[in-house]
Amino acid sequence: MDTPDDPFAGGVLRSAEDVTLVVEDGVIVARGDLADVTRDHPDQAVVDLRDGVLLPGLVDTHVHFPQVRAIGALGMPLLEWLERAALPEECRLASEDYAREVAREFCFGLISAGTTTALVFGSHFAGAVDTLFTEAARVGLRVTSGLVVSDRGLPAELLTTPQRAYDEAIELAKRWDGVGRSRYVVTPRFSFSASEAILDACAGVLDSMPEVLFTSHVNENPAEVAEVARLFADHDGYVDTYDRHGLLKGRSVLAHNVHATDPELAVLAERGTAVAHCPSSNSALGSGLFPLRRHLDAGVSVALGSDVGAGTGFSIFKEGLQAYFMQQLLEGDGHPLSPTQLLHLATSAGAQALGLGDRVGDLSVGKQFDAICLRPPGGTALNIGLRHASSAEEALGKIFALGGDADVADVWIGGRQVVSGGFSRAALG
Ligand code: GUN
Ligand code: ZN
Repeated sequence: MDTPDDPFAGGVLRSAEDVTLVVEDGVIVARGDLADVTRDHPDQAVVDLRDGVLLPGLVDTHVHFPQVRAIGALGMPLLEWLERAALPEECRLASEDYAREVAREFCFGLISAGTTTALVFGSHFAGAVDTLFTEAARVGLRVTSGLVVSDRGLPAELLTTPQRAYDEAIELAKRWDGVGRSRYVVTPRFSFSASEAILDACAGVLDSMPEVLFTSHVNENPAEVAEVARLFADHDGYVDTYDRHGLLKGRSVLAHNVHATDPELAVLAERGTAVAHCPSSNSALGSGLFPLRRHLDAGVSVALGSDVGAGTGFSIFKEGLQAYFMQQLLEGDGHPLSPTQLLHLATSAGAQALGLGDRVGDLSVGKQFDAICLRPPGGTALNIGLRHASSAEEALGKIFALGGDADVADVWIGGRQVVSGGFSRAALG
């Protein structure tokens, strides 16, 4: 099952009981029935996956590398959670040995949840960001990441200067951007912890290397929004703190945007900037109900992010379900979500938000073979539900309602199988 045509614009789920894909050098080169395809490609080995459900690899458009060990600190709003749970852990990544261990846990967490492409909020420490890119390259993950920069409002160990932020970003981007599947993203943490000078330094990196991406947080929590309004009193709202510095473009992704104004949505649509919707984080921190309908009506692209560690795990299926729940609850302004729309948000919409729509996101000819095969264990509600589903769309609803890491049996990235038969927990050790 996949969503090559946008289901928010009339596209329907593409599904087949039995379809054959030919993969050469990581790319899908043919698609059809087995008899026709084997006639044209007689020398290819056949892998039979008919006992499972094949989907495109999942795309996480907002996830924090240094927060794996911070998952599950419940009961606090954003600013208190940062101070008490996230930032003390992020300080520990000053040690490269510590960062290397966390990088292994992080990449393992993504892949075992079926995520094959991710836009990753890095660390404030350049050495730690290097360990992440190194580990992602080792395991084959399609990662876009970068140095997180701040020069006020955070613990002193996490602060830098505009000049150092520029120099370290350029060095990391030169080392990793476009190398294998790695790409670089310019990442001020949020305007709350950024001076105008450091936002200018970020713009300088984008000027020097226009192919790199931009990401940050925006309009997540009312206390944060109020403080940003105080710090940037001469700006026209939170989105403008980035826009005025030339940071918003296509291939920019802003996380959250729960408390957006209509003029801000118009600016995002005009710039082609996408929003990473992180519903489990928005619930866990009590940030609010994401106005999906207003984003879609304004023409702003939306995809899903786990926002680990404020988010409660790596599974993009869970984010899809939580997005569905919250739209059900958003009285008057909610956008009902079908299973097909959830799959789109979890795959092709994410690929497009990251500027990778021509390479990944669905299983069409010409795309990289990034895919997952779900094989839920016998006796589980998902296994039973899939065997009794009367349509593909119904099966997909069950996958979002019930699916999780334990159901992800096989994972391929660029044609290479990186998980086979489910992850044994020993694989990390
Ligand atoms: N805003 C600034 N930093 C963070 C973070 O680490 N998590 C979330 N959810 N919001 C942020
Ligand atoms: Zn975040």
